[in-house]
Amino acid sequence: MSSLHELAHAKINLYLHVTGRRQADGYHLLDSLAVFAGAADRLDLKMGSGRGGHVALDITGRFCAGLGSEDCADNLIVRAGAMLREQIGTDAARALPDVEITLHKELPVASGIGGGSADAAAALRLLLRVWNLDLPRATLMALATRLGADVPVCLEQCAARMEGIGEELSPAPGLPPCGMMLVNCGQSVSTPQVFKTRAPVFTPRATLPPAWVTLADMVRDLAAQTNDLQEAACAIRPEIMTVLDALRAAPGCRLARMSGSGATCFALFDSPEAARAAQAAVQQAGAHWWVWAGDLCRSTTEARTSIPA
Ligand code: C5P
Repeated sequence: MSSLHELAHAKINLYLHVTGRRQADGYHLLDSLAVFAGAADRLDLKMGSGRGGHVALDITGRFCAGLGSEDCADNLIVRAGAMLREQIGTDAARALPDVEITLHKELPVASGIGGGSADAAAALRLLLRVWNLDLPRATLMALATRLGADVPVCLEQCAARMEGIGEELSPAPGLPPCGMMLVNCGQSVSTPQVFKTRAPVFTPRATLPPAWVTLADMVRDLAAQTNDLQEAACAIRPEIMTVLDALRAAPGCRLARMSGSGATCFALFDSPEAARAAQAAVQQAGAHWWVWAGDLCRSTTEARTSIPA
């Protein structure tokens, strides 16, 4: 059988409002618009020789060292496999072929662009295919939520509004053509620490139009929103402010903001070409920074891969 693969695209929060707190477990309630960039990790899968549905994981790629100390058994990809086996029951799991997954880690780790969540989601998509499992969408989404609050949106891998703790998805407004730049200063950020550090104030849910026709319209509306985690992340990692300054100073930048709980920041440009044209100027501000420029996955089908309805 030929090797199967999936891309795990970077998830960008165009804005992120903390709207409240869930009583039961202290998780924060969010309102966020998530989009996906062309930048991605890649997962390759080969069938193993045994049975039992075991998932062996090998990690390589530019940022594999970021996961170096992590025991592979703790990796979300391996846990995704365990959850699927548990879901279908011990007897059915015994018949599943073992698989070997190679993760090419090209996105910075613990960086606010959903890397680990996107990897887990890509693993779920791969395993559903090779194990020929047909789980109801609601079951799959509940399983994804247990893996992490960002995993459901990464499973669908198309622009969406995220509410609840991130698991309540609804369609994003139509997006205009634009380009995107991503910059990470090389410092990981702990999501729980950022949530703990933020001032305990809440921001209302945003009012969004059904579609944005031009980038100027989208930027005007997004500029009125915030990433409520940005200030706390900047207090923990001040270099994020340097990144934001460099992005705002880049020729053609229309909006610069941090994604998720950081430290990765994004900037919007008129086109992928405009974003790429500004890349060298930003890289000059930080030679050690990871800088990516290119496309935003705009349509709902561009990045989507087959999830059973
Ligand atoms: O769900 P995930 O594992 O990505 O979340 C990591 C941590 O971030 C949680 O343990 C929690 O402390 C915090 N978090 C939160 N509210 C969310 C998402 C994450 O408080 N909606």
